Amino acid sequence: MNKITFPNGFMWGAAASSYQTEGNNINSDWYIEEINDRNRMPENRRLTDLCGEACDHWNRYKEDYDIAEKIGISIYRTSVEWSRIFPQENQENPEAIAHYRQMFADLKKRGIKLMLCLYHFTLPIWISQKGGLENKEYIIENFSIYAKRIVEALGDLVDYWLPVNEPNIVAMMCYLIGKFPPYKKNKQKFRKVLRTILDIQLLSYDIIKSRFPNSPVGVALAFQHYQPYRPDSSRDIRYVNHVFRKMNCWFLEGLDSGRLQIKKRRNKNVMHKGIDFIGVNYYTSSYLKSGKPAPFKDGEIFTDMGWLVHPRGLYDVLEYVHDNFDVPVIITENGAATTDEDFRIWFISEHLKVVHSALEKGVDIRGYMYWSLIDNYEWERGYTKRFGLTRIDFDTQERAVKRGGEWYASVIKQNGFML
Ligand code: GCO
Repeated sequence: MNKITFPNGFMWGAAASSYQTEGNNINSDWYIEEINDRNRMPENRRLTDLCGEACDHWNRYKEDYDIAEKIGISIYRTSVEWSRIFPQENQENPEAIAHYRQMFADLKKRGIKLMLCLYHFTLPIWISQKGGLENKEYIIENFSIYAKRIVEALGDLVDYWLPVNEPNIVAMMCYLIGKFPPYKKNKQKFRKVLRTILDIQLLSYDIIKSRFPNSPVGVALAFQHYQPYRPDSSRDIRYVNHVFRKMNCWFLEGLDSGRLQIKKRRNKNVMHKGIDFIGVNYYTSSYLKSGKPAPFKDGEIFTDMGWLVHPRGLYDVLEYVHDNFDVPVIITENGAATTDEDFRIWFISEHLKVVHSALEKGVDIRGYMYWSLIDNYEWERGYTKRFGLTRIDFDTQERAVKRGGEWYASVIKQNGFML
């Protein structure tokens, strides 16, 4: 048996977000929308569960950090909830800031680094009432106030920053396929919103850098991977390359130009504005036939999300990023919704093998974060999907590290694993 070993200092982490874990974020647009949703949406488009008290992480964070410490992660990725900090326009809640300080100081005391995201899918209700991402001027003005406040109040505890999580998914789910609030399907709005998110990234970068010039700022992008349905068809291959760039690279390439545009040619050595590292969120892959979605094939394996397991896609993404952008990579999310721990272990190990191969090829990958440390609220799928290294009994809030979590702990301890 061979052992694969990761580089010294490789960061092993786990990720989560505030809304999905904290509970009772009653001033968030999602919280309100979940309730409205019950009355308004046709049954087949309703969100499955109300988020409610989620994992009660707001109160039980010490228990969760105990678990993080036990598993041995060196970095934890989470977010702060804008609506907790500013429950109303221009009305700060000092207790929420103090609580976050206490939480993050506790995490840091354990020797665990913090990667902090400012915007992970949810907005304060007062922002959405004024048009949310569609009201560019208003959100930009208020996001700046919020970002400045976080940088000032919590910045000394943050090791890595992510102003925005998955800009491509936010814009798509909220404004193109209409699955997330405000449930719109409008191409023009979709493009407008993408531009606004680009500006949010750029302005946050400047705010963070003006106070902490050495703190790395990145973006977590949900990389969409495609395969040609007919592997030998040059037409299918051409479309795959085209759609891949369109779905994944408008944001990275837009940072340079400030415009939503995929450049014809790019120079790998350009300095990117607004970004010091690329966060890769990778889960799955799909097929395209002549540019159109095509069915899966016989014998393929899926997670409980119905997502195809395709570790090779992560390699393709890492290679693409390496070949086209001149900044380091951190895998900011990868994981499986499953209740079968053998499956989870297999899923992680297959993806880690690929990460290792990419490292050997020279891709500058600084760390890997499993999504998620604990089972949590999976947006429109509610509590039905279990991504966690730790099981949560949502009736009693009891936590128990799963076998997958124990296995991940052993990987971290050995900085690798036996093949
Ligand atoms: C996302 C988010 C997470 C999800 C995770 C699993 O990608 O949607 O960053 O909030 O929970 O990716 O779907």
